[in-house]
Amino acid sequence: MFRLYNVVKLIKYSFLTSKILQLHLKLNKFLNVHPGQYLMLWVPRVGEIPLAVADYDNHNLMLIIAKKGKVTSYIHDNIGSFNYFHIRGPYGHGYNYSGLKKALIIGGGYGVASLLYLAKKMFEKRIKIFTFIGFRTKKDIILMDYFKKYSSQIYVATDDGSLGFKGTVLDLLKAKFDEVKPDKVFVCGPEQMEYRVLHYLYNKGIEAEMSLERLIKCAIGLCGSCVLQPLGLLVCKDGPVFSSDVLIKVKDFGRVWHSSSGKEVTLNES
Ligand SMILES: Cc1cc2nc3c(=O)[nH]c(=O)nc-3n(C[C@H](O)[C@H](O)[C@H](O)COP(=O)(O)OP(=O)(O)OC[C@H]3O[C@@H](n4cnc5c(N)ncnc54)[C@H](O)[C@@H]3O)c2cc1C
Ligand code: FES
Repeated sequence: MFRLYNVVKLIKYSFLTSKILQLHLKLNKFLNVHPGQYLMLWVPRVGEIPLAVADYDNHNLMLIIAKKGKVTSYIHDNIGSFNYFHIRGPYGHGYNYSGLKKALIIGGGYGVASLLYLAKKMFEKRIKIFTFIGFRTKKDIILMDYFKKYSSQIYVATDDGSLGFKGTVLDLLKAKFDEVKPDKVFVCGPEQMEYRVLHYLYNKGIEAEMSLERLIKCAIGLCGSCVLQPLGLLVCKDGPVFSSDVLIKVKDFGRVWHSSSGKEVTLNES
């Protein structure tokens, strides 16, 4: 783990869509990273953000950055002037895929980034992978070719039907679930989607794990900004990946997060 900042070289970048940037970085040290873990990426004088490891192999790291607010917009708008980034980590508790024969991956939007490295690692373990990924429109689809390499079967959903299944990834799940019958399901995407998928799978008695987003400041369990109530779990340390058995008891899930001032903000408003 890089406890101190490590300087990583930007090898190349590309815009996968107008709002999604893909970075290929070269590390000068080996990184021991488990699927679902995240890194803190620091831009001096701008800020620091958590990002999932989308791929890692032999010192080569891939990150996906969606344009959202202050830090991500700065990176998007100035990417041509970057040669290096500062990272620390990896942090957190990732996905548990040991002992599985058949897994289903469900991703939405840029959340698919967190699931790609998982797909690769499960593929290496010869776990049969089904992938359901959902996006707003055809223009928003990212990383599909990567997922195709690792998946026995892949379905894409778009809200407007411009490619693949018409509807949300939850609609797709409902339509195709009986075809797949997975041992376990791994989910990452907008929290409202995760919330609905959790309840659908929980009622069917299917084990699932989901990766959550909260405001991460310290990443080491000290500041409390990422707390999930009422259990007091910390997304930075106990997560970001949680099992459905835990999430079903978390009142904040699908409902509120805490802003940098500590104020509760409802997820629909954010
Ligand atoms: C473990 C983890 C892994 C992540 N992996 C990725 C990744 O691989 N790729 C990627 O693009 N993004 C990822 N994110 C999200 C990314 O960290 C945020 O989009 C980023 O921190 C936003 O920073 P900003 O300064 O650009 O936006 P800000 O200026 O901080 O905020 C932008 C907008 O988002 C809202 N917002 C901020 N934090 C939250 C929150 N926790 N919940 C709801 N709304 C919020 C703000 O109110 C504001 O409207 C991950 C987050 C976590 C916790
Ligand atoms: S980010 Fe500080 S406790 Fe989680």
